[in-house]
Parts: sequence; C-alpha cells; structure tokens
Amino acid sequence: MTRRRLIAGNWKMNGDRKALGELDAIAAVARLSPNIDVAICPPATLIERAAHHAADLIIGAQDCHASESGAHTGCLAPGMLREAGARLVIVGHSERREAQGENDADVRAKAEAAIAAGLMVIICVGEPLALRQAGLAETYVEGQLHASLPETATKDLIIAYEPIWSIGSGLVPASENIAAMHAMIRQTLIHLLGPEHGSLVRILYGGSVNADNAASLLEIANVDGALVGGASLTARSFVPIIEQWSGL
Ligand code: PGA
Repeated sequence: MTRRRLIAGNWKMNGDRKALGELDAIAAVARLSPNIDVAICPPATLIERAAHHAADLIIGAQDCHASESGAHTGCLAPGMLREAGARLVIVGHSERREAQGENDADVRAKAEAAIAAGLMVIICVGEPLALRQAGLAETYVEGQLHASLPETATKDLIIAYEPIWSIGSGLVPASENIAAMHAMIRQTLIHLLGPEHGSLVRILYGGSVNADNAASLLEIANVDGALVGGASLTARSFVPIIEQWSGL
C-alpha cells in the first residue's frame, strides 16, 4: 500500500505579507520533490496571496466553520476558504480544542463540511501529558477518532497524531510509542472506514518536528508525513525536513 508522503506546515498566528517570501524557497524544493506533497497553512488573511504565489504548494487553512454560511461573526465557511485558494484545512488542532473549547462533535461536523466543500482535511488528535503518564494515551486517542471521524469514508481525510505535551516543547515521544500509536490509529481507521479507505488515509506525526529528528520519524511504520509548527515558519528550517522526506 503506497501512500504519498505529506509534509504540512502550520504557521498558526504568525506571518504577514513579507513572510510570503519564505514560500519561494519552500515551493522550489517542493517542485523538485514530485514524490511527496508539501502544504503550508498560513493565517487566513494570506491564503489567497499564498495560493497565487506558490502553485507548487498545497495551501491550506487552520480551521473552518461547519456551516456553509450564516450568522457566525468572525468565522469562515469551507467554501470561502476553497474560493480563496485553499485545498486543505486543519480541524481539531489541540490549541483550538483547548482555547476555543471545541469538542469531538464539533471537529466531526467541521471535517464533514470541509470534505463536502471539496477540501482535504487534517483531523488532529493527541493526548495530554497526564494521560500519557497514566498509560491511557492510546485509549484516549482511540476515543477521539471514534467521535471525530466523518461518518462517510473518503480519500480526502488525513489524521495528525499530535501529543499535546510535544507541541512546541522540544519533547518527542519515543519511537516505539509513536509506532504503537500510529498502528492503533491505522487499525481504528480500517475498522471505522473499511480496509480500502482505512489503508489509504495518511497518518502524520506532529509535535516538535525539526530537521534533526525528521529522518528518524520517517522510519517509523505508519508515519506518512509530518505536521510541523515552529520549524515551518522559515524556509531555512522547513526545507531540510522536506529534503529528508523526499529523499533529495
Ligand atoms: P510544533 O507544532 O512543530 O511547533 O511543535 C506542531 C503543531 O502544533 O502542529
């Protein structure tokens, strides 16, 4: 079963027009790497410009609303993001689950709306440190998957396993723990979506990915790519990750 690798950068609330310059070098290496997908999710204000600026990259959004339109001040519908040039959207990032109080049902509704609008969707899951320490990480993530995956199988679905305690901390789980988690996620996907779709869904690892640990992450079974925060903000730190994953 071959799954195209995907390296996705999440700029979070960082970046202005000047930051689009970083996309040139990232797009150049993406052009030389036809065997992998490279995505950047800038702030929504930059999506349209980024999509024009860097046709070799998949430009994505960091969140969307579950409705097509309506009285939702400050929110963006999936169709609006698509019209602006986004081809992908991240939903259920732990920062939104925590700060905006989003639950699994919200995440599922957003994912279904995004897929209906023709976007690829990265659903983020991952445990807090206390549950990892209590030996409950896999049980917790399995519960998140059951409650937040769309009801209908689709090839446009991507899962990102991001342990909350690893995000921005420089801490990365032991390889065997990532392997066990990704194996459980694969089994759960096959169980929920059926063997065909469940085997096609890409599973990314996210949390303190950088040029120093990218190569070893790549060797772990069922790690099909990475969701990268801090190290995606500059070409200097992001390009070496892409190069390692594309085998350049
Ligand atoms: P990080 O963020 O790479 O800065 O740890 C990852 C994420 O939040 O997706």
